[in-house]
Amino acid sequence: MKHDAAQPAPVTLPAAPEGAAAVFGSRMPVATRFAGILADTGVTHGLIGPREVPRLWERHVLNCAAVADAFPEGASVVDVGSGAGLPGVVLAIARPDLDVHLVEPMLRRTEWLRGVVADLELDMVTVHRGRAEELAGTVTAPWVTARAVARLDKLARWCVPLLQPGGTLVAMKGRSAATELEEERRALQRLGLVSATVSEHRLEVLDEPVLTVDLRFGARVPGDKRHRSAVAARKARGGQR
Ligand SMILES: C[S@@+](CC[C@H](N)C(=O)[O-])C[C@H]1O[C@@H](n2cnc3c(N)ncnc32)[C@H](O)[C@@H]1O
Repeated sequence: MKHDAAQPAPVTLPAAPEGAAAVFGSRMPVATRFAGILADTGVTHGLIGPREVPRLWERHVLNCAAVADAFPEGASVVDVGSGAGLPGVVLAIARPDLDVHLVEPMLRRTEWLRGVVADLELDMVTVHRGRAEELAGTVTAPWVTARAVARLDKLARWCVPLLQPGGTLVAMKGRSAATELEEERRALQRLGLVSATVSEHRLEVLDEPVLTVDLRFGARVPGDKRHRSAVAARKARGGQR
């Protein structure tokens, strides 16, 4: 078929790398379907750049799947700034035992995410439209994760109000994870940081480990900023919960 020179050439999704099947097991057909959706409407709806398509498996799908080992059996996990469902949709595919909540403020993106969740029959995924800081008191879980959303201090300010007391923020970061943690440690301590670890998540199919900064925050102190924001959110909703 001839290609119209006025239109950018369509980019085809490469086959899944050998080794991906070992990561997803019986869920491999669902992962393949998700990669196909990302390469198709994910691109046409502007959720993912066309240049990402050739590296969609390694850089996006498998990169997120690597982090699936961070969460205990049956955990509730909030993915803040989910965008194209990364990492939340991939986690739900790799770990059907998880209760996954996708938080995303942009309407166009939440509509696309709702379509994907229905298409892939991911019954354990809920899509919430809103900024993380608006959802304090509405969405709460012991685990929050995020990829490519903000630096640690800003991310923690948005995510700590969504965490149950003693909960952990698993922030996906690149090679600068340890440096960023040290630069932001004092700001994180002011938010109630109890412990911080840089974790390596390895998959045989990936050349490099995926890094997360795992930040555990303490119990809420009445009168502190995040407690007040949760109380304010509850009051705004008429005092329920
Ligand atoms: C660079 S994209 C990353 C998307 C996805 N996590 C990924 O790794 O491809 C950042 C996403 O965060 C969302 N976002 C920005 N500010 C936010 C906030 N305050 N609360 C929740 N999501 C936010 C944006 O709408 C966008 O979808």
